[in-house]
Amino acid sequence: MRMYKEYPYNGWQDHVAEIKNFLEEKNFKYLDGSLEEENFIIVMDHEDINKHAPGLINFFKDNNLSISCIMLHGSCNTSDPPLNLHIDQIPLMEKFYYSPYAINLPIQNVEGTYLAYYEIIDPSFELKEDAAFTENEVKEITRVNYNEPLIVRIDKLHAVCNVSDKCRITASIRFTESLEEYFTHA
Ligand SMILES: [Fe+2]
Repeated sequence: MRMYKEYPYNGWQDHVAEIKNFLEEKNFKYLDGSLEEENFIIVMDHEDINKHAPGLINFFKDNNLSISCIMLHGSCNTSDPPLNLHIDQIPLMEKFYYSPYAINLPIQNVEGTYLAYYEIIDPSFELKEDAAFTENEVKEITRVNYNEPLIVRIDKLHAVCNVSDKCRITASIRFTESLEEYFTHA
């Protein structure tokens, strides 16, 4: 089963710059590349996106897609294999429309990091609070290091690995449309 594919996206670097400006204006310290203690998520809501990322919002409007929110993910100092196994789901997403796909953009320090997908091999496996797992429970099925826009499944078990000494940041754009046709045809 396909978990991700490249997304043709002209001018995406300009939109990464918009997001970086947002982080800078809000005084998030992560842009200096320093390593944080913890992984983090910052949500850009409609107001933030309209104000700080007009180019990005217009690009998707022109493609008949409307954004519900942008999740900025910081992955810092994970283990390898990573222990942040998860499915992007409720409760975090419950105030937004839930689509099984997202379009991800690299923001900074993606070199040497990866996004991996897993399948459950032990039927009694349950996601734990600390996202820990053993190799008897789940098995990695694919991994991708991306430095260009990617359309990804967010409804399948996945984790991000970053063992570098810098904080990796990606943006995950969530939509009110399902994106199914872009994933299967585009
Ligand atoms: Fe995720």
